[in-house]
Amino acid sequence: SETDKGVYPYYMLKEVDEQAIVARTLSQHYFDDDNQIQNIDPAIIEAIQSADRLYIVAAGTSYHAGLVGKRYFEQWTGKPTEVHISSEFAYDQPLLSDKPFFIFLSQSGETADSREVLDNVIKQGFGSLTIANVMNSTLTREADFALPLLAGPEIAVASTKAYTAQIIVEAILAHAAGNSTLDLKHELAKVAVEMQVIIDQKEVFKTIAESALRDRRSAFYIGRGLDAAVAVEAALKLKEISYVQTEGFAAGELKHGTISLIEEGTPVFALLTQTKTAGLVRGEIAQVTARGANAVIISSKALAKAGDAYVLPEVNELLMPLLTVIPAQLIAYYATLDRGLDVDRPRNLAKSVTVQ
Ligand code: G6P
Repeated sequence: SETDKGVYPYYMLKEVDEQAIVARTLSQHYFDDDNQIQNIDPAIIEAIQSADRLYIVAAGTSYHAGLVGKRYFEQWTGKPTEVHISSEFAYDQPLLSDKPFFIFLSQSGETADSREVLDNVIKQGFGSLTIANVMNSTLTREADFALPLLAGPEIAVASTKAYTAQIIVEAILAHAAGNSTLDLKHELAKVAVEMQVIIDQKEVFKTIAESALRDRRSAFYIGRGLDAAVAVEAALKLKEISYVQTEGFAAGELKHGTISLIEEGTPVFALLTQTKTAGLVRGEIAQVTARGANAVIISSKALAKAGDAYVLPEVNELLMPLLTVIPAQLIAYYATLDRGLDVDRPRNLAKSVTVQ
């Protein structure tokens, strides 16, 4: 059945493996045979187009998916887009624009902090959409609109396929509401193929995880732009299941403090897929390496250099987060296995947090 681990030792590995299939499923669901958008209520498009600002609200990994989606909404719809943590927004609502529209991202549709924000949004009379994996959940029922992630049940506490599904649905929605000239259906088909290429090379990440992280107590993920967005998700994956204290942040911030933490052998995973900032990130890698760090560079084909730990296949640069996150998921998985820990059930965590 869908909730059976089958041949997999852990749900997390099964769910990582399913990501190419989910990408195809979403493309088939949201695009028709003539490349036109389907299964999105025109009223959603209209709500986005008539808003003067978009507010993405979410928690945990879903919040991180929002950080990536912001780029699509801003670039393709021209609407300023803010991304907020629901537990913060609920009690310290920022000053809103005149015509805000709210987009809630959630795997479960039940996160209490996000529900609290939705309640407040409804009371203030603003429009809302929930993008969730579990349809017929509180967040999908109570928002004005809902769109499904179609990722199938996600059981492992560490979210993987829901993250990539959220990024894909954000891209499709921004594309539908905006004026991108990208052939997104075609680009997503390429993404699905390349996701599978990475997944099929998973043994590489076992080797990387074991050599870089065994006996290590701390690690870093760095990147700029969309890679900075992926870095925070990558760090969350690693720390939440392996208990290796990991920070993910914008590479340019290193010099403002964090670089003092670098010691001999400290693993620094550098994500390098964005052309505009690749040179700067190379410089930052040199800075940490000069201080003894073990830099593990995950780069895209066009930006790769000899010595990089893994070279990602190439898709449209805006869609690279869909590929970049997969090595991070697998590194987290194998580092956790290497420590003899339960990948699917990390201590102190719940799949869905229904209390504030
Ligand atoms: C919990 C889960 C995370 C998830 C977060 C938000 O902390 O362990 O994996 O990202 O809740 O959940 P949601 O269901 O709203 O995406």
